[in-house]
Amino acid sequence: TSASAADLVRSLTTTTPDFPTPGILFRDLSGVFADGAAFRTVVAAMAEPFAGRFDAVAGAEARGFLFAAALAHSAGTGVLPLRKPGKLPPPVLTEEYDLEYGSAELQLRTSVASGLRVLLVDDVLATGGTLAAARRLLEKAGNVVVGATVVIELSGLGGRAAVEGLEVAALVAEG
Ligand code: PRP
Repeated sequence: TSASAADLVRSLTTTTPDFPTPGILFRDLSGVFADGAAFRTVVAAMAEPFAGRFDAVAGAEARGFLFAAALAHSAGTGVLPLRKPGKLPPPVLTEEYDLEYGSAELQLRTSVASGLRVLLVDDVLATGGTLAAARRLLEKAGNVVVGATVVIELSGLGGRAAVEGLEVAALVAEG
């Protein structure tokens, strides 16, 4: 039998302590992206719980883009890029959020997204700041956020509380 998506994630990801700053345990998914069969299996497993329930996918720059674009393409939907500041021309909506290391902003080009059922996609759920900001951005623009799907959830950081009431799927939960 073929390896499960969760097994593939466990075997193809690395964990680096104190990167990019002291105290951060950095999960890197380059090994999943580099393996075509694994990438396909992981993306299919991320979409499965929400099949038929979304008509657009949103991903946060930069690591979220890879999974969001692949999932959207495979589901036949569009993808809404949530970008770091200064990358998109106006008009944009902006949301600030706290990250494990520092604070940040995400921006959405308002003209492309309204009245959609949106699935949020990211590689890692840590504090939940990114998903919470993404959710606020898409709701402000007049969309319904139906859920979030991530590859790895760092359970100890309490990210689900930041997106209370939102259905969140994770292939692998650790710590
Ligand atoms: C990482 C990761 C998630 C986010 C998770 O992105 O890809 O988007 O952090 O953390 P949170 O749940 O605490 O918000 P990062 O902001 O480091 O940007 P990058 O994708 O450009 O590396």
